[in-house]
Amino acid sequence: MARGKKIYEGKAKVLYEGPEQGTLVQYFKDDATAFNAEKKAVIDGKGVLNNRLSEFFMTGLHNIGIPTHFLKRLNMREQLIRAAEIVPLEVIVRNYAAGSMAKRLGMEEGTQLPRPIIEFSYKDDSLGDPLVPEEYIIAFGWASQQDLDDIVAMALRVNDFLSGVMFGVGIKLIDFKIEFGRVYEGDFQRLILADEISPDSCRLWDIETGEKLDKDVFRRDLGNLTDAYTEVAKRLGVMPSNPSQMPKPTLIN
Ligand code: TMP
Repeated sequence: MARGKKIYEGKAKVLYEGPEQGTLVQYFKDDATAFNAEKKAVIDGKGVLNNRLSEFFMTGLHNIGIPTHFLKRLNMREQLIRAAEIVPLEVIVRNYAAGSMAKRLGMEEGTQLPRPIIEFSYKDDSLGDPLVPEEYIIAFGWASQQDLDDIVAMALRVNDFLSGVMFGVGIKLIDFKIEFGRVYEGDFQRLILADEISPDSCRLWDIETGEKLDKDVFRRDLGNLTDAYTEVAKRLGVMPSNPSQMPKPTLIN
C-alpha cells in the first residue's frame, strides 16, 4: 500500500497518513530508547516483533469488547490504525512492585501489591513524563472525570486479559503502560485504546525463573532484547523464529 505523508515520528514508531480519512499507518522502528532517550540503540528485529505482538494483544482485547485503534496489520512493520486524538497521559497498571514504584517506595522488585494500582504520567518528554495525581488531570483539562472513570475501567480489564494470557504461557505480568485516544462519531466522542502493547511497554517475568522478557533487558543490559521478545512471541504462538536471525532473501537466477 502506498504510504501517505509522515504525520509524526516518535521514539519507536512513525505515523503516516492512511489510505482513507480517519486512518493512519503505524510503522514500528527497530529503535530502542530508555531513560527519556538518554540511552539509545537499534535492535534488529524489534519492530517486526512489536508489530506482531501489538496486533495479537489488540485483537484479543477487541474480541472481549475493548475498543482499540487497531484495524489490520499491513506487513512486517506496519499496521493500519484509526486516527485518534491522544489523551496526554501514560496510564500505568502495576500488579507487582518494580521500576520507578519500587525505587520511590523502597520496595523489593517483585513484591505483590495488595491490588492492581493505576497511576498516571503526563506525556511530555521535556518534563520526563512526570507522575501526576488525578486532580491535576481534571484541573488542567487533560481528561474529564468521566474519561478517567472509563480509562480506569478499561485499564483494569486490559490488566485482567493480559495477566491471564501471560499466565497461560508461564509469564507474570508485573506492570504495563497503555495510552488512550479520542475518536469522534458525529456528535459522539469516545475513548479507544491506542499506541501499542508490546514488551517495550510491559514488564514480563518468567514465572519459574524470574527471567526478564521485556525492555528492562535493554534498560539494564541484561542480554539480547530480540531473543527476549522472540521468546514471548513464540510462547504466545505469534511468531516462530527470531526475525533478526532470519536468512536474508537471495536472488534466484
Ligand atoms: P516505571 O516503573 O519505569 O514507571 O515503568 C512502569 C511501566 O511503564 C513499565 O511496564 C514500563 C512502562 N514504561 C513505558 O512504556 N514507557 C516509559 O516511558 C516508561 C518510563 C515506562
